[in-house]
Amino acid sequence: MADIDSVLNKLLDEARSADEPAAVLKSPELKALYKQIGSIDPTERADYGRRLNDAKTELERVVAERLAEMTDESVATIDITAPFDKNSGRPDLLPTDQGSIHPLMQEVEKVSDIFGRMGFQIEQSRELDDQFHMFESLNFPKDHPARDDYDTFMTKEADANGEALIAPAHTSTMQYRTLKKYKHKLENGEPIAAIVPDRVFRNEDVDARHEHTFYQVEGIYVSRGVNAGMLIATLQKFLEEYYGKKLEVRVNPFYFPFTEPSFEFALSCPFCGGQNTDCKVCSGEGWIELLGCGMIHPNVLKHADIDPNEYTGFAFGCGIDRLVMMKYGIEDVRHFHSGKLDFLKQF
Ligand code: DAH
Repeated sequence: MADIDSVLNKLLDEARSADEPAAVLKSPELKALYKQIGSIDPTERADYGRRLNDAKTELERVVAERLAEMTDESVATIDITAPFDKNSGRPDLLPTDQGSIHPLMQEVEKVSDIFGRMGFQIEQSRELDDQFHMFESLNFPKDHPARDDYDTFMTKEADANGEALIAPAHTSTMQYRTLKKYKHKLENGEPIAAIVPDRVFRNEDVDARHEHTFYQVEGIYVSRGVNAGMLIATLQKFLEEYYGKKLEVRVNPFYFPFTEPSFEFALSCPFCGGQNTDCKVCSGEGWIELLGCGMIHPNVLKHADIDPNEYTGFAFGCGIDRLVMMKYGIEDVRHFHSGKLDFLKQF
């Protein structure tokens, strides 16, 4: 006949280290102790029953203790900052719960990388600027109608000059600062070569092709003997790297106050190459007007204390959202800021 104390001690030991401690409450040894009640001498049965119940209560207490201890252990091992591990497959942190880099930022990185390899420094713009950087430094005379092409948002408060601050409508606002910052390079016989990939703002009616907030990349290159051929070659090389294929480019005369001459720069459609009359990207035209560029106006150089008789330079400004839309065949610019996970997860 099994003895209550020896069975209890064995089960207590098991419960204290078991992964499933509650199993001891259903163990055959415990069942056998209950089964043998019938064969106990009736004068001792009541005493046996009491001792058996006490033993079971003790066992239940230890099982509960062990369960509490295991919960503490598992709580301590969940590190919510740990990256998802495919091998352990932790169900508390599925890979879909992790964020990813926004497609526009991924492309800003690629654009910066290409220009970086061509020797351009990467500069940052700002989200609030003043009228001097937006207009005067870029050779927009006061009250010139060209200012109307850059309709953006302004603050109600005025700056120290009594003028409203501006959410920059283009990255060209950084030309003056960049020229000043790297002017010393010219004196050392090195070129100024910088790009500014950053956010810009326009007071636009938002539709599939227009956003009030988007990205541009500004390019600035100044040295001795810089000419328009270098500008075109630089842009062509950049676009061919970005789209990973040979492209035709075309320049048409245009007007910007801060370049002379100014051009509108078009590339052959990277989607259909002009072969598809129904192409959604180029509307069957085969060409896409992509960006504005030109030779930096002598007045812009003079503003930054660079002598235009000694140095010349080119500049360009290109919308990044459009580059990306063409690369991936994205039909609506509003997807970028929509927060739609179905869209974002494709990148
Ligand atoms: N800032 C112009 C725009 O947003 C684009 C541009 C044109 C930039 C000519 C330049 C440039 O640097 O030289 O419309």
